[in-house]
Amino acid sequence: MNRESVVLPFRTALLGWYKTHQRELPWRQTRDPYAIWLSEIILQQTRVEQGQAYYHLFMTTFPTVQHLAAAPLNEVLKCWQGLGYYSRARNLHATAITLVNDYEGRFPTSYEHLLKLKGVGPYTAAAIASIAYQLPHAVLDGNVFRVLARLFLIDTPIHSTEGKKQFTSLADALLDPNHPDTYNQAIMDFGALQCVPAKPNCEACHMKGFCQAYQHDAVSLVPVRKAETPKRVRYFYYFVCRHGDDLFLRERTNKDVWHHLWEFPLVETEQPCTLETLLTRPEVKTWLGDTPTLHQPVTLKHVLSHQIIHATFIPVDIQQSTIETYTRLSPTAMEAIPVSRMIDLYLSNL
Ligand code: ADE
Repeated sequence: MNRESVVLPFRTALLGWYKTHQRELPWRQTRDPYAIWLSEIILQQTRVEQGQAYYHLFMTTFPTVQHLAAAPLNEVLKCWQGLGYYSRARNLHATAITLVNDYEGRFPTSYEHLLKLKGVGPYTAAAIASIAYQLPHAVLDGNVFRVLARLFLIDTPIHSTEGKKQFTSLADALLDPNHPDTYNQAIMDFGALQCVPAKPNCEACHMKGFCQAYQHDAVSLVPVRKAETPKRVRYFYYFVCRHGDDLFLRERTNKDVWHHLWEFPLVETEQPCTLETLLTRPEVKTWLGDTPTLHQPVTLKHVLSHQIIHATFIPVDIQQSTIETYTRLSPTAMEAIPVSRMIDLYLSNL
């Protein structure tokens, strides 16, 4: 298919579809780059339905970049709790501080300068530049890769160097330079609502006349991804040590998942391990002290993007009132500290 001949009809058809199908989303009522940045960071790896509640929470708790920069990281992580991929929240906070300290609290107004901000990659920079400033930068995320791969029947693996080049050039050519904000949000919504990953309703699709994959019966064959690398499997054994109503936790400080989130005393192994073996470990003996009362363990499986964590929570009533390097926290104090979604799930099921 000749690309030039399809650009204008494609834009017209997409914008026509968007007019009747667009979602009313809170960040679409504003041009404030802070609000748009916040929404885009939240929406990375998060569904729009879930993202909206977090967007409202952040906009009410931290209405401006100054509020966000002035907040302690713990408070930001606490608001983020449940969203996962916590590096997004840490980068959000670090970037707010940079904006206040080095940019007089104002967002850069060009794509290139936006890209320099921590946590802002090509996708987010294009979204902010187009939506806040109407600059002609096309967004390219999972939804857009899928839409373009199907409409233009492209079978180059989307994460390969060649694939990225090919899709970027196509996305840039298709973008409507007069309405980059509307065009970008239209293609996002089209991917999210119509051109969905599994079993799209192609018969009812407004774009089926353009869609090469539909016409060649290849909708389920594209986009092509490279084989995924197997996930790392980890075993976490948490000793949920309790003295009265209080629990003992500390912050994770190593460069690993859940950096800066709090957790119970932990033994990590690469293979499953029995409770008897765990109880012979010197660190476990110091945590539990004399005459601990062990309760029924609870197991949870938690799947992250690159790893699978099998967690066992072992509740123990202990006699000692302190554990070295851990903080003793009352139930009220527990509510204010950020924990991983996995620990939150465990605590809320207690
Ligand atoms: N996903 C990521 N950014 C989005 C936006 N601005 N609107 C809808 N879905 C999105």
